[in-house]
Amino acid sequence: MQEVLKFPKNFLWGSATSSYQIEGGIKNCDWVKFYDAGRACDHYNKYEKDFDLLKRMNQNAYRFSIEWSRIEPEQGKFNRKEIEHYREVLNALKSRGIKIMLTLHHFTNPIWLADRGGWVNSKVNFYFSRFAERVFKEYQDLVDFWLTINEPLIYSLMSYLNGKWPPNKKELFLFLKVVKNQIVSHKKVYEIFHQINSKTKIGVAKNNQYFEPLNPRSKLDKFSVGLHRYFWNEYFLDKIKNHLDFIGLNYYFHQKIKFPFFKKNENKIINDVGWEIYPEGIYYVLKELKKYNLPIYITENGLADSEDKLRKSFITEHLSWIYRAIQEGIDVRGYFHWSLMDNFEWEKGFEPRFGLVEIDYKTMERKFRPSAFYYAEICKNNTI
Ligand code: FCB
Repeated sequence: MQEVLKFPKNFLWGSATSSYQIEGGIKNCDWVKFYDAGRACDHYNKYEKDFDLLKRMNQNAYRFSIEWSRIEPEQGKFNRKEIEHYREVLNALKSRGIKIMLTLHHFTNPIWLADRGGWVNSKVNFYFSRFAERVFKEYQDLVDFWLTINEPLIYSLMSYLNGKWPPNKKELFLFLKVVKNQIVSHKKVYEIFHQINSKTKIGVAKNNQYFEPLNPRSKLDKFSVGLHRYFWNEYFLDKIKNHLDFIGLNYYFHQKIKFPFFKKNENKIINDVGWEIYPEGIYYVLKELKKYNLPIYITENGLADSEDKLRKSFITEHLSWIYRAIQEGIDVRGYFHWSLMDNFEWEKGFEPRFGLVEIDYKTMERKFRPSAFYYAEICKNNTI
């Protein structure tokens, strides 16, 4: 593509991570027993260096999560040392002029919460909002954007319906209870934050997918697409839409639907973990979000690509479709690539390589992939 596409003024250019996937040394969370991420990227000790990398890539924003099990390792007991640690992390970003988007829940829970029934127990709404309030009171001056829950439906599905993540349950009833509690928790936290400071910006990071009928002429396929769209993309947002200052969109997936629920993934171009790459889908998913009339940030978008063969074109193409949506009036204000660096990819472990920065897990050395330089140019010029 020859044409230069200029993004809106003050557009946020960043990347995203989460605590368990990069920090290392987390001991009190429910994932440890299931799959211990060990030292991960040792980011807990190397964050200053990692933020220098962000800066060298000209990124002006960063999304990361705070580890609940560090802040509150025992029910109701907050750990001063860890609170100060994250303050230093936030200050390290501020001193580099980087805007901060902080996630409060990114898939992991303190063990004490898991022992009390985790997100099935409606007391989670009290526990989560108490933790969130504490965090907010500590850091409200340092954080620009808050996210309550990362991909609520992916979390509830993987943990309570298909059993792949702790607590490894497979029960529809539990799944539905968890979704209900996520909605209640989100709203509660929204209200608490806004009561303390009405100017707070708080959203959710929602994994939405582009669904289309396998056969565009089939009424049944189309009907089924409508159901998928409603339950996966809209339901959660509809429930919390009056408690949102912006929408965070995580875009990874495109599904062709054949009635009733069979999904046919044609897998034309795939990344290292077999996920189809379908840049156009982000455009349609963004268009669907227009009705909420809220600013949108792309809070995640990226691919596993150890050889960095597809990352450049992946970024360019997704950004071109985002650009097109912006031209058509969709209020997209930022893009956070997943991920700043290679990290622990949940049940898949350390094999998938999602990073702009490559990690050598033996030496903990960091190395820019070629696409990092490419992304750095985009961030610098605000154009593609
Ligand atoms: C998203 C998660 C993130 C990462 C990417 C690849 O679903 O939010 O933690 O694992 O997928």
